[in-house]
Amino acid sequence: MRKNMVAGNWKMNTTLPEAQALISEIVHMVQDETTGSPAVEVVVCPPFPFLLPVGKLLQGGQFHLGAQNCHQKASGAFTGEVSAAMLQSVGCEYVILGHSERRQYFREDDELLSQKLKAALAAGLKPIFCVGETLETREQGDTFKHLEKQLKDGLFHLSNEEFDQVTVAYEPIWAIGTGKTATSQQAQEVHAFIREQIARAYDAKAALNTSILYGGSCNAQNARELFSQPDVDGGLIGGAALKSRDFTDIIKSF
Ligand code: PGA
Repeated sequence: MRKNMVAGNWKMNTTLPEAQALISEIVHMVQDETTGSPAVEVVVCPPFPFLLPVGKLLQGGQFHLGAQNCHQKASGAFTGEVSAAMLQSVGCEYVILGHSERRQYFREDDELLSQKLKAALAAGLKPIFCVGETLETREQGDTFKHLEKQLKDGLFHLSNEEFDQVTVAYEPIWAIGTGKTATSQQAQEVHAFIREQIARAYDAKAALNTSILYGGSCNAQNARELFSQPDVDGGLIGGAALKSRDFTDIIKSF
């Protein structure tokens, strides 16, 4: 179901005490400051070792726990890996898949991501599936072609029922951690395109019901303008998710 959503991707940051302090501050600020504000689902994605302790501090309600990755197999001899069922068992509801850092540094391709999506869904997790183009691709005028392929090869193999569980995140790689945000027009143009592709692959209802988040240097200053676009349903936040004041202000930006 389409909803306003802000997801915080903490990446490989924080120690346990820092993670606990950060989430406590966020929960308190949001509770104190958002009465009467539009409903927003908040998803917090800390590093694996902190899922359980951070989850305990979330206090339910609008707060949900997410992981940053999962393995494609259900269990077995895969030293160092974490399965979707493990994540589900510690309280995760969401998992980020296809983040450009996973694609780039860990060579995750569409075929592997398809398997990860299936594994996540089989364990009852809701995937937040990331797509996005490099600066080179954008400058060559190939953004839509690139996104169409990522969606088709990585995501659109899912059944209607499976796709229902998916949130899409548009994260232009040139905007991630660079301080360069897509303009609200650039974001809207791509989000509308993604929604159109969903309508083609599934149907108009699926397209209308899918939340599409923007990610890439989204912060407390630009969130309101981005979230006011008709096809932008919220944000996937990296750097600004590590600062309680900034993250809370982003949540308040609807
Ligand atoms: P950023 O990261 O907000 O630091 O640009 C976004 C992301 O990688 O999800």
